[in-house]
Amino acid sequence: MTSSPKNPRDSALVRAARRQSVPHTPVWFMRQAGRSLPEYRAVREGVGMLDSCRTPDLVAEITMQPVRRHGVDAAILFSDIVVPLAAVGVDLDIVAGVGPVVAQPFRTRADLDRLPELTPGHLPYITEAVHLVLDELGGTPLIGFAGAPFTLASYLVEGGPSKNHEHTKGMMHGDPELWNALCARLAQISGAMLRVQAQAGASIVQLFDSWVGALSRADYQRFVQPHSRVALSAVADLDIPTIHFGVGTGGLLASMGAAGADVVGVDFRTSLTDARARIGDGYAVQGNLDPALLFAPWPALEAVVRSIVAEGAQAPGHIFNLGHGVLPATDPEVLTRVVALVHEASAV
Ligand code: CP3
Repeated sequence: MTSSPKNPRDSALVRAARRQSVPHTPVWFMRQAGRSLPEYRAVREGVGMLDSCRTPDLVAEITMQPVRRHGVDAAILFSDIVVPLAAVGVDLDIVAGVGPVVAQPFRTRADLDRLPELTPGHLPYITEAVHLVLDELGGTPLIGFAGAPFTLASYLVEGGPSKNHEHTKGMMHGDPELWNALCARLAQISGAMLRVQAQAGASIVQLFDSWVGALSRADYQRFVQPHSRVALSAVADLDIPTIHFGVGTGGLLASMGAAGADVVGVDFRTSLTDARARIGDGYAVQGNLDPALLFAPWPALEAVVRSIVAEGAQAPGHIFNLGHGVLPATDPEVLTRVVALVHEASAV
């Protein structure tokens, strides 16, 4: 394990995000706190997902598990993108094997009444959980996160996970005024969620726009980018870097950077070299090992990890990650081995 500096602001992760020199490439994994860990399954036994997210002791324990086990360069707060929606009163549940399910989908102007602004008072358990985690983390940075307006809107409008986002796109094009009103509300909620975590002590935040790869660049710029910019700008005065991530976003990377992030997350379908050519040198990049390759024989996996580290070294800043979340059946020992390899291969 690599020793961490005392102040998380001086950590490899925060320095890479700021495009400063680093002693090694920092590495963490999206969904590192989750079902691939037996110790996670043990503490979650019999406790619902939303209840877990509202129990600070449990949040702190789960957040720390991958840090202790893998020696990753960051913790990410154990929560979910729909937690702030539930906090303001949206009737939803997170169903195992399915994802977030909303009791009454959002389809009309009257539905906006069910989506009040988020205030820090809605999320006392988040602040408490961040404080508990910081007590244990030392110099390792904590990543706060929120869902971006488009991805949150898709869950609300569709009522659950969706392949085609047909109701969402229908509203976007059919009633742009309602769409913009909904996303303005969601941008406030998303930004406030980021801000609560940053003010409690998170050193960096990530905006997850997981499903935005379903859009054309023109639709992204017209209907989504202005709202994501508002969400990211909620922490602009707090002097912490921001990461902006989506899946299948090869054609949107430049626009996602331009929404105001320091780091652009790249999924496994676009190489870091291609991503850099598209976004320029004004951003660090994060990614982008295909999570399915964690199931490949070690020599094959090792070669891919080394090549991503080498590509990342050409960028002005690189945070090693997967191109999307850890799959539940992943062998945790492989993740630990990848962390050690990234550190060894990138050590200066
Ligand atoms: O990265 C981490 O380890 C931190 C925790 C985290 C969770 N969800 C925990 C979780 C984070 C960052 C998220 C964000 C999230 N949630 C996203 C964006 C990231 C991404 O994957 O693109 C999205 C789209 C969601 C919505 C969501 N929540 C889905 C699609 C699912 C999976 C449903 C399933 O069971 O297959 C969830 C549930 C969820 N969120 C779990 C965890 C650990 C599994 C719940 C469980 O263990 O019972």
